[in-house]
Formats: sequence, structure tokens, C-alpha cells
Amino acid sequence: MASYLSNNVFVSSLMFFVMTGSLNAQVADIKAICGKAKNQSFCTNYMKSNPKTSGADLKTLANITFGSAQTSASGAFKRIQSLVNTTTDPTMKKAYTSCVGHYKSAISNLNDAKQSLASGDGQGLNIKVSAAMEGPTTCKDEMANFKVDPSAMKNSDDFQNICGIVLVISNMM
Ligand SMILES: *[C@@H]1O[C@H](CO)[C@@H](O)[C@H](O)[C@H]1NC(C)=O
Ligand SMILES: *[C@@H]1O[C@H](CO)[C@@H](O)[C@H](O)[C@H]1NC(C)=O
Ligand SMILES: *[C@@H]1O[C@H](CO)[C@@H](O)[C@H](O)[C@H]1NC(C)=O
Repeated sequence: MASYLSNNVFVSSLMFFVMTGSLNAQVADIKAICGKAKNQSFCTNYMKSNPKTSGADLKTLANITFGSAQTSASGAFKRIQSLVNTTTDPTMKKAYTSCVGHYKSAISNLNDAKQSLASGDGQGLNIKVSAAMEGPTTCKDEMANFKVDPSAMKNSDDFQNICGIVLVISNMM
């Protein structure tokens, strides 16, 4: 009887520790993540406007933010593509066309990063997302000399800020 009881107490306290331990390990510290983000206010606003981030573990958070990075990249790509289509000024058309290429490579880098995300490889994710940020950075540099449609640049800043959050998370994986 005594041994049955102590076994029981042992098992239930073990379960308690396993459960609380894994819960503690699972819920990602959003405050800490945004504290390390390049643009902290963007990060805080982003998390607030995506309710699924609340209470999420690190892997889920990586999934959500990475998905946003993909959405952002393809949104910027489409926006600049439509500027290419509607711009008549040949110089601007050329500049936008070059940017479309840069965003294409960003999207392709993000597709490569998906495997790292799926396997929980934080370092691989970091390398590939960093690579994905290069194209839009080059686009912004090229655009610096032109009077650019502001919508194109707003998308670009959002993309960099979201990728910045993914990088912070990848370093914690
Ligand atoms: C940070 O993001 C906010 C939008 O949330 C933007 O207004 C601000 O310019 C950004 N700051 C930097 C340094 O990029
Ligand atoms: C995020 O997770 C969902 C469900 O597990 C999955 O369908 C989706 O492909 C994931 N997104 C990415 C970008 O891996
Ligand atoms: C721009 O034009 C290309 C080729 O004509 C077309 O495939 C694409 O759908 C257009 N994109 C947008 C956003 O208008």
C-alpha cells in the first residue's frame, strides 16, 4: 500500500513536471523576441495584429512569421510587376523590371528556406532568409536615385522588418 501510494505520488509529480516543463519550454517569449528585433515597434504591432502568435511556441511562431514574409514578398513582387506593366517612362520601366528580378530571387530563396523551417533547422533558416533579404535591399538601393511609387517602398520596408523577426526567432531555435 505504502509503495503503491509513493509510486502514485512519484508518477503524478513526474507527470506534473513533464507537463509544466514542456509548457514552459513551448510558449515563446514574444517580448524577448521583439526586444531583439531590428524594428521593435513594428514587431510589437505585428504580433498584436496576428492573434495566433499569442501563446504560440517557437516553431509555430517561426511558421507564422515565415508565412508573412512569403506573403509580403509576393505582394511586393506583384505590386512592382504591375508598376512595370503600367509605367511608360522607359528608365523607370527598366528600374522596376530589375526589381522584379530581385524579388523573384527573394521568393526563390524563401522557397529554399521552407525545408529548413520544416526540419527545425534554425541556422539554415537564418542563412536562407538572410539571402532572401538581399534582393529587395538591392532593389531599394537601385531605386534610391529615382522618384519611386511609395507603395513599392512601403512593401519593401515591411518585408525587411518581417524577415528581421524571422531571423531573431531562427537564432532561438
Ligand atoms: C519601424 O516600423 C514602423 C512601422 O511599424 C515604421 O513607421 C518605422 O519607420 C520603422 N522604423 C525603422 C527604423 O525602420
Ligand atoms: C505552417 O504550418 C502549416 C500547418 O502545420 C503548414 O500547412 C504550412 O505549410 C506551414 N507553413 C510553412 C511556411 O511552412
Ligand atoms: C504584368 O504583365 C505580365 C505580362 O504581360 C502579366 O503576366 C502579369 O500578370 C501582369 N501583372 C500584373 C500585376 O499586372
